[in-house]
Amino acid sequence: MHKNPQNLNAFLFDQGCSEDLRSLLTFIARAGKYVAHAIKTGDIGKAGTSNLYGEEQLSLDILADEIFGEHLVESNLVSAFASEEQEQLVTILGDNGKFSVAFDPLDGSSLIDTNVTIGSIFAIWEGNGFLGRKGSEIVAAGYFSYGPRTTLVLSLGNIVDEFVLNDIGEFQIYRSNLCIKPTSKTFSPGNLRAIPEKPAYAHLLQHWISNTKTLRYTGGMVPDINSILCKGNGIFTYPSHSQYPQGKLRLLYECAPMAFIVNCAGGKAVNEKGNPILDIACENLHDRTSIFLGSTQEVDTSIEFFQRIHY
Ligand code: AHG
Ligand code: MN
Ligand code: MN
Repeated sequence: MHKNPQNLNAFLFDQGCSEDLRSLLTFIARAGKYVAHAIKTGDIGKAGTSNLYGEEQLSLDILADEIFGEHLVESNLVSAFASEEQEQLVTILGDNGKFSVAFDPLDGSSLIDTNVTIGSIFAIWEGNGFLGRKGSEIVAAGYFSYGPRTTLVLSLGNIVDEFVLNDIGEFQIYRSNLCIKPTSKTFSPGNLRAIPEKPAYAHLLQHWISNTKTLRYTGGMVPDINSILCKGNGIFTYPSHSQYPQGKLRLLYECAPMAFIVNCAGGKAVNEKGNPILDIACENLHDRTSIFLGSTQEVDTSIEFFQRIHY
């Protein structure tokens, strides 16, 4: 904890962040603040609509999407954005803009009635558009975690920092340089529905249990990965199966931003074939991927389990 915590803007200035990126991040931080407020005070019911994935939308999914979209327009810096909740790319300034932003406005929204932590995820690329772009080209990525406190975990490509929303509505630095150790004490196994088709996953779980690792799983990608970053170790897995042949989680809105952050913290993120998430080029805005992410040695061991064919 810093003695005199800096706010986000001052912190980014000291880090040498360009004025444009700093300004865009300030608008995104303000959007996160409004979403945090909406979660506390807004309607948590269903909107009566579905998104392009066929998932039921909550009123809050739509409101959070609007809040992020409006702030990106207001920044006057954005060429285009892509949202998990919108089928098409939204062009704002086109070639006259500086950045393209992809975001999941509300991650884990189906958990909201249980009052557990949910989040928002975003990533920023320079230039106009996403097709053919890779996570390795991201210039900044972050997520908001709306828990007992609202936090922003952010990386500009070198270190990972955590900011907390204070009671005067500013994000102030809380912990700098979050790091992930190579070995893990915990495991966060998503999509256990894959086990009947993928016995390797059951063997991997048994390996973790036999090695007395601790289960840490909320069902929300943001709190599950936030736990890895805040505790400094862990692994999150979400393999594919027949219901989700490419995996459930979205490359642009969830996996690439989280992979960028985890890599910057010294961790690793690959798909179930062992290919780095940051090397996957975006072919369609709504591409999905399997993901294994967290402590490097644990990720490598998990992929070895998945690549064994005889059990
Ligand atoms: P979203 O709320 O943006 O649709 O994302 C939910 C995601 C992610 O947070 C979580 O890891 C995963 O869905 C869990 O899905 P299942 O419970 O279907 O396995
Ligand atoms: Mn999500
Ligand atoms: Mn979402």
